[in-house]
Amino acid sequence: MTDQERATLIAAATAAREHAHAPYSKFRVGAALRTASGRIFTGCNVENATLGLTICAERVAVFKALSEGERSFNAVAVVTDADVLTPPCGACRQILWEFCGDAEVILANLKGQVALHRISALFPKPFDRSFL
Ligand code: THU
Repeated sequence: MTDQERATLIAAATAAREHAHAPYSKFRVGAALRTASGRIFTGCNVENATLGLTICAERVAVFKALSEGERSFNAVAVVTDADVLTPPCGACRQILWEFCGDAEVILANLKGQVALHRISALFPKPFDRSFL
């Protein structure tokens, strides 16, 4: 991933965040996933009055891409307005590991702060197909 590719992915996640449906938490999240071929799929969090049916921005992006036939990803950007950069929740880490392997995770906020991680560092001992 080049710095330009990262900046493009952050911009896509920032734009997707504008579509967040977060009336309960008010915590708006945008995500953008880059395929190996360079396509970008975005997602935002979509909350529900039951709360438990809420889906995170990252999983929306992954499922959108999967449903369009994509199977190979190399990076995901997650953008919030928090001063402390927001990492993917546990459920999203499991899904990212399943479908993105050890992709780059780019955390960013609206102030322009950026941090780079690998999924393997955020999710060091995953349950996956190797156990089945
Ligand atoms: N959220 C995400 O979209 N991604 C994460 O990785 C962390 C949490 C959303 C879910 C919920 O709508 C709100 O943030 C507060 O938890």
